[in-house]
Amino acid sequence: MMRHLALLAVLSAGSLAAPLLRGTPGTLKEAFAPHFHVGAALNTEILTVADHPARALVTRHFSSITAANAMKWGPFNPEPGVYVTEPADALLTLAEAHGMQVIGHTLFWHQQTPRWVFQDVQGGPISREALLERMRERVRLLAKRYGERVHLWDVVNEAIEDDGSLRKSAWHRILGADFVPEAFRIAGEELPASVQLIYNDYSMFLPGRRDAVVTMVRDLQARGLRIDGVGMQGHWGLDFPRIEDAEAAIVAFAATGVRVHITELDVDVLPRSPDMFGADLNKRAQISPENNPYTDGLPTEIQEKLARRYAEIFALFVRHADKIDRVTFWGVTDGDSWLNGFPVRGRTNHPLLFDRANQPKPALEAVIGVAAGK
Ligand code: GLA
Repeated sequence: MMRHLALLAVLSAGSLAAPLLRGTPGTLKEAFAPHFHVGAALNTEILTVADHPARALVTRHFSSITAANAMKWGPFNPEPGVYVTEPADALLTLAEAHGMQVIGHTLFWHQQTPRWVFQDVQGGPISREALLERMRERVRLLAKRYGERVHLWDVVNEAIEDDGSLRKSAWHRILGADFVPEAFRIAGEELPASVQLIYNDYSMFLPGRRDAVVTMVRDLQARGLRIDGVGMQGHWGLDFPRIEDAEAAIVAFAATGVRVHITELDVDVLPRSPDMFGADLNKRAQISPENNPYTDGLPTEIQEKLARRYAEIFALFVRHADKIDRVTFWGVTDGDSWLNGFPVRGRTNHPLLFDRANQPKPALEAVIGVAAGK
């Protein structure tokens, strides 16, 4: 593979580059069909602009799609009784036209949930019973509107901290340790039995969070509540996590009897200070030339490093394909990645398999090569 990458690097300076890259063999969904679904998260623009240029990549390469924002509580139901359903409906329409799996993301999260959800009409804190009823109403409405057409739901997103403690969110303030079990109880009761129920979180390779998630899954099972899968987000970097740490988490989750999903994969190529790992959206830093070095494109050596990194990540997934149902990228092209705005706003990041011109990067060929056993 490395010889191939070096060749691409030489050619990318010359006129042969474009046809060669466009001729990348195969597609992601075909290459990994024997192993797992390959998915992408779609932002609202891709969902609602029918001739959006990234659409061709979506239908060619992916067998599963997730709305990056459209189904979250805030974007979907910003005010009591107000529903913005067009982008979510468009996800279903696109998926059904192309036979793609549909991921519902996400029922309950501490971010992008409107303040009113946790307040009574006077703006005071809502009671436990009232909040549980509001949660049930949300799931009931989604079940009625989409039913079995959404194949999996991320029921709870990010309820556990790095050290394994429960996140001190508004959910926790009102429901305490019952938040996660009650969320799964409601989802299990209101959604059709064929819909898979997932717990999703970031930095799952950290032993604190990993072990707490294993304990949580076993606790749900002991209470007779259904949980079908654990989603490892996979907002990773060129040098973190160590493959063996990600592997330990995959093995630990699968040992509880649930399926593993890689739900939000991207590989950050930009410098991050040590306190910027994970996906805590409250962490922000200032832009500088040092932390934004690739505004004119990725240097060849980093492009190759990214391809090698993706290859080792997918080699890990293929080794554990008996445990993994799906690998979803968080975005389609570098231009639509959230990593251009996090943890520093306004940077030029290059974390995905397709560049800003919708062209495949060497990493795409490297990933497809893993499926082919190269
Ligand atoms: C988390 C969420 C996603 C998305 C990303 C960043 O990982 O699960 O829905 O918001 O943050 O955009």
